Amino acid sequence: MNLEPHTFLSTLKQRANFTDEDKALLKSHADWGALIASDMCDAFYAYLERDEEMQKILHQSEERMHRLHKTFTEWFAEMFTGMDEWGNEYANRRWKIGLVHVRIGIGPQHVVPAMATVVQKVGQRLKNDDKPEELKEALGRICMIDLAFIEQAYVEVSSSAVLRETGWTEGLFKRLIATGANTIS
Ligand code: HEM
Repeated sequence: MNLEPHTFLSTLKQRANFTDEDKALLKSHADWGALIASDMCDAFYAYLERDEEMQKILHQSEERMHRLHKTFTEWFAEMFTGMDEWGNEYANRRWKIGLVHVRIGIGPQHVVPAMATVVQKVGQRLKNDDKPEELKEALGRICMIDLAFIEQAYVEVSSSAVLRETGWTEGLFKRLIATGANTIS
């Protein structure tokens, strides 16, 4: 269960139908993306602040919010530039972001609605700034690809930890999960 970020990104691009047209459209709006990134960041953290549990995590240290403002803004802008044409560098960065969230203990239940907030906020902004519907769709696809990285990091990290600790095979582990799922109603 060792995820290879580059292969994973290729699979996701195909699955989400993230096309060359999407890439061109995003790149042609890279300046706009960079311009609104800070506002999107503020809206995102205002949303997280409303949740008591998330608020505690965000304010664990004074520097954390500073770092987050910088890293989130960069993350947002990178969706438009694709870093290296949405290649290996992009995949490695997304994988690392996933791992950071697993380490901090932020579960999928928080990440999924958080990404929905990004999609909703950027959707409002696209409308206000009279941007094309195709850009909204391209952004939706790349947001879902990025979300899949964060979600998959949970599965990979927890599965690898169990396999390492127990010495079980991957097959046995999968069977146990399937059996466990049958017993939970
Ligand atoms: C749409 C989903 C999310 C995105 C795109 C996102 C983006 C990022 C990025 C780019 C980083 C920097 C990673 C690094 O250091 O390499 C980060 C770290 C972090 N994120 Fe998120 N995040 C998301 C969801 C959340 C949620 C739901 C929380 C809940 C509080 C959260 C809290 C944090 C924290 C505490 C850090 C580490 C900050 C530090 O101490 O440096 N994130 N996030």
